[in-house]
Amino acid sequence: MKASKRLDRLPPYLFAELERKIAAKKAAGVDVISLGIGDPDMPTPSLVVEALARAAADPGTHQYPSNRGRAELREAFASFYDSRFGVELDAETEIVPALGAKECVFNLNLAFLDSGDVALAADPGYPVYTGGPLIAGAEAVPMPLVPERGFAPELEAISAEDRERARLLYLNYPNNPTGAVVPDGLFEQAVEFGRTHDVLIVHDASYTETTFDGYVAPSFLATPGAKEVGVEVFSLSKGYNMTGWRTAAIVGNAQALDHYWRLKSNIDSGMFEAVQLAAAAVLADGAEAAREMSAVYQRRRDMVCDALREIGVDISPPKGTIYVWAPVPDGHDSASYCELVLEESGVVVSPGSAYGPNGEGFFRISLTVADERLAEAVERLRSSLGG
Ligand SMILES: Cc1ncc(COP(=O)(O)O)c(C=O)c1O
Repeated sequence: MKASKRLDRLPPYLFAELERKIAAKKAAGVDVISLGIGDPDMPTPSLVVEALARAAADPGTHQYPSNRGRAELREAFASFYDSRFGVELDAETEIVPALGAKECVFNLNLAFLDSGDVALAADPGYPVYTGGPLIAGAEAVPMPLVPERGFAPELEAISAEDRERARLLYLNYPNNPTGAVVPDGLFEQAVEFGRTHDVLIVHDASYTETTFDGYVAPSFLATPGAKEVGVEVFSLSKGYNMTGWRTAAIVGNAQALDHYWRLKSNIDSGMFEAVQLAAAAVLADGAEAAREMSAVYQRRRDMVCDALREIGVDISPPKGTIYVWAPVPDGHDSASYCELVLEESGVVVSPGSAYGPNGEGFFRISLTVADERLAEAVERLRSSLGG
């Protein structure tokens, strides 16, 4: 059976070889610990589960939802943005719910890109920033993120031709996979870039609620002028342990949201209204839960960074996200080091090259396994790779 040309444009799946080796290890009876996937291990806060149970018992939530979302959810987003980020949003025109940031980021490509157009995407970065434009029949142009620049893209280095063709520019801070927080001045430069080149700036705010050492992550929309040129995708997945709930929103520029909404109303029928009400509850009352989860990740981050230092990995502890991004020791590339770690310790870490060419030379550890398992993984790394 032949797949569409569109699907053929996607790059090969880079985890395939690693997954084959993991399966072989498991088949050989090894107790493999996966620090590969960023899916929070802790349960969704009970306030959300209880709000869902109440809302689901109301038949008024059982019919097709509206793709514009219930007023309660839009108003909850508006109040949250005001109190958390100091950003004013119009609940009627500047907020549209999304079925997760992934859906939203992917569909933005369909809504804004034609053949010949370009999306500027962080490299390394969340794979949908590069796969989405390809499926939309357009192109993704990588913007290298390197440690020397604090993992900020060098907007001045984008070629005249790419600036001309660019319609979208993706940013994401705190950043997956590097764990970097937004470097000073980057959001301001992005606003200027969007204005000058008529490019929609898309800030993926999937990790703003997971931060450490007292750092508080800003919204891109708090930057003067941001709403004229940009949107922000805010996901409840990571900050509130809600990956399975598929809850996010796109907020900001009303015209951009209208295009997204027009596309989306041809694709899906929105978010179950009981889930919308549960999401509204966590936006109103979830700050404490998010802080508690950040404290857990901070503790795990320290455990991992200490162990990595002991086995000779040069590491700067991240101030946010659920990941540690570390350089592979000399003599290895990303893939060979991840294979060595699996071979020697039965621990799975992700090769940086899976997130783009500039991820080569790094590996990513996810902090989303229970403390005892993480402690065991760390102990194995120490004893099998140390010294
Ligand atoms: C940067 C980034 N954006 C978006 C997502 C997907 O989030 P959601 O669960 O809201 O679709 C992820 C998930 O790993 C991510 O790392």
